[in-house]
Amino acid sequence: MPYAKIVATGAFLPEKVVTNADLEKIVDTTDEWIRTRTGILERRVSSPDEPSSLLAANALIDALDSIGMDKHELDFILVATVTPDMAFPSTACWIQKRLDINQIPALDISAACSGFMYGLSMARAYIESGMYKNIAVIGVEELTKIANWEDRSTCVLFGDGAGAVIVQATEDESDGRILSNYLGADGRYGSLLMKEAEGTVNPATHETIDKKMHYITMEGQETFKQAVRVMKSSSVEALKRAGLKEEDLDLVIPHQANIRIIDALAQRLKVDYSKVQVTIDRYANSSSATIPIALNEANRDGKLQPGNHVLMVAFGGGLTWGSTVVRW
Ligand code: ACO
Repeated sequence: MPYAKIVATGAFLPEKVVTNADLEKIVDTTDEWIRTRTGILERRVSSPDEPSSLLAANALIDALDSIGMDKHELDFILVATVTPDMAFPSTACWIQKRLDINQIPALDISAACSGFMYGLSMARAYIESGMYKNIAVIGVEELTKIANWEDRSTCVLFGDGAGAVIVQATEDESDGRILSNYLGADGRYGSLLMKEAEGTVNPATHETIDKKMHYITMEGQETFKQAVRVMKSSSVEALKRAGLKEEDLDLVIPHQANIRIIDALAQRLKVDYSKVQVTIDRYANSSSATIPIALNEANRDGKLQPGNHVLMVAFGGGLTWGSTVVRW
């Protein structure tokens, strides 16, 4: 049976940096509030001529280039996003067009901030079943384009970016590989995090625009509580499925939504903070892109050595959650 191994990572971040001081000029907020309540110092913001597919294509090219892989070797493109270029065609298809690699299947996954975890599990299943050999899994998001810039309780939280990995079949059991995945969802909490309009419940009208229903809404405190709960339980479950314990971990890459959620997870898992990858200070919350961007930074900084055990764990709108344990 083939195993699924992450053989390359890549990322792309828009150049434009927006600091907390910049936001002080737009909404009634302070650098101190944002810093202490969220851990965010600045975020990247895409320009109008940088759609999600552009960020994603650049992240994928970065991953391919890092191992000198020919784009024609890819046989599937999976893209986690809730900020697609448009409702359809999928962002995955637009990325395929940008890379000029026709014919291979291309699909978007909608699981909010957990989307990249869902994508990794799908890539693993396709590879272990023998159906495909080289799958690109991308997390890309442009939440700044669906944020309400008049709502200080949400707009300060988000940033744009893309991260990509290439998951490849390996026959060698002792090689690095994805050891376990765990996914879950609870639709009863759906209203905690939403973009209500522009779907079949509320098709776009002047009224939906006037009521600002095309922007993200969030019940912050309840989301926070659920996040801490599911981040811990899904970490424990993925470790169990991998036959590992918390002390076996070399690196934890949590979804970057709030530094206080990350701290709470590290404490509950009793993992030394030096083993936790943090990017929220520079990139804020880029939903499904936070984990592949952080994974790429860890990889490029030499923090991932063969044999290392890495836990990735996310939660997001839905409510959804997911975790992955990898032997690098
Ligand atoms: N600047 C200044 N004051 C603010 C701001 C701001 N940007 N935002 C809110 N406040 C005020 C509030 O109005 C409130 O004032 P009041 O006490 O006078 O009413 C006060 O600060 C406290 O507000 P809370 O909402 O209680 O603040 P809290 O400590 O809960 O932090 C936060 C809010 C950061 C949103 C937190 O709840 C959180 O991180 N929640 C989880 C967010 C998350 O994980 N989202 C999931 C991912 S997003 C996605 O999936 C697309």
